[in-house]
Amino acid sequence: MNQPVTSICNNFISELDNVIGEFIPKNIYVLVDEVTQQLCLPEVLKSEKLNGCHVITIPSGDENKNIESAVVIWKYLSENKANRKSLMINLGGGMITDIGGFAASTFKRGIQYINISTTLLGAVDAATGGKTGINFMGLKNEIGVFAPASAVLIHVDFFKTLDDKNIRSGFAEIVKHALIDSHEEWSNILSFDLHKINLEKLRKLVENSINIKERIVDQDPFESNIRKALNLGHTFGHAFESYSYKIQKPVLHGYAVMWGLLCELYLSYMKFNFPKDDLMKLRYLVKEHYGMFAIDCSDYESLYELMTHDKKNENDAINFTLLSDIGVIQINQTATNEEIFECFDFFAGC
Ligand code: GLY
Repeated sequence: MNQPVTSICNNFISELDNVIGEFIPKNIYVLVDEVTQQLCLPEVLKSEKLNGCHVITIPSGDENKNIESAVVIWKYLSENKANRKSLMINLGGGMITDIGGFAASTFKRGIQYINISTTLLGAVDAATGGKTGINFMGLKNEIGVFAPASAVLIHVDFFKTLDDKNIRSGFAEIVKHALIDSHEEWSNILSFDLHKINLEKLRKLVENSINIKERIVDQDPFESNIRKALNLGHTFGHAFESYSYKIQKPVLHGYAVMWGLLCELYLSYMKFNFPKDDLMKLRYLVKEHYGMFAIDCSDYESLYELMTHDKKNENDAINFTLLSDIGVIQINQTATNEEIFECFDFFAGC
C-alpha cells in the first residue's frame, strides 16, 4: 500500500494547485461538513484548479459519520457523473476524512482522494495512515477499509478556527506520538506552552508527530504488529470516552486519550517499571491542561465492562500497548482485573 507523504504547506493554494495538477482529474468533488463549508471552503476555492468543482455538504459531528451520510455522498457522485478519473477532496476533521475516504475508495471500486485536514486532531491522526470508515449500529468505525489518500495537505492557518479545547484535544495525539518515539520529542512536548499557543512551534510539533506516525504506518499499514503502538492510551481512553457519553457528560476524544495515557503509563510503571518521574510529568501536564474526569469506585465496573468490548482485544483479553521507557514499546500486553482497578484508583486519586 503506497502511503502518501503529508505536506504541511507553506503556500497552501499553490501547493494545492500542484497536487491537483498531478492528477489531471476529469471532475473534482469537494466534501465538506456544515462547519468547514463556512470556515474553510472559501479559502480552498481560491485555487483556480477548483473552478467549476462540485461541493458535497453533509451534517457535521461524529454522529453523522454513518451510512446515511455515505449514501448522500455516493448518490451525489453517481448522479453527477463521477468516474474513475474523478478526484475527491475531503476538507475537514477526522469525521470528514474518515467518511470521505470510505465513500471515495468504495465508489466504483475506488476513486482517488486527497485529505485536507482542518483540525489539529485530524492532522496528526485521522488524515494519515489510510484508515477510513463509518460508525454502524452504535459501534465506532465498524465498517471501513484501509485505503490511503493520494495526498494529505495541512494548512496550519485553519487551526486558528479551533477553540482551546479542540487544540488540546488534538495535542493529546501529539503527546502520544512523542511518548512512543523518543526522549527528545517528549522534552519538546514538556517545553511547549499550551497556555499561549505559538503556531510556528506547534507547526514543528505537528510535523514531527506526523513523521512519527507515518514511519510506523509504513512498517505495518494493516496494524498486525507495530502499528498497535499508536493505540497507546486508547484502551482506557475509549472507555472514558464511551462512559462520558453514557453518563451524558461528553468529552472530546483527545481529553479521553490524555486520561487513558495517564492510566496506561501507570500500568506501564506497575508492569514494566516505566520511569516514575516521567509518569509524574504526564500527571502534571494532564492536571494543568485537561483537568481530571471525576470517577470513584462506583464507576469502575462500568468502565471495565466498556474495556472488555474494545475492538483491539484478542482472545477475550483486554489488549494494551504499554511502554517500558519513553520510546520503548510493548505491544499485545494484558492486565488482570486487579491491575486495571489499581489504575482506576491511581487515576481517581490524582
Ligand atoms: N489512529 C491510530 C491509527 O491510525 O492506527
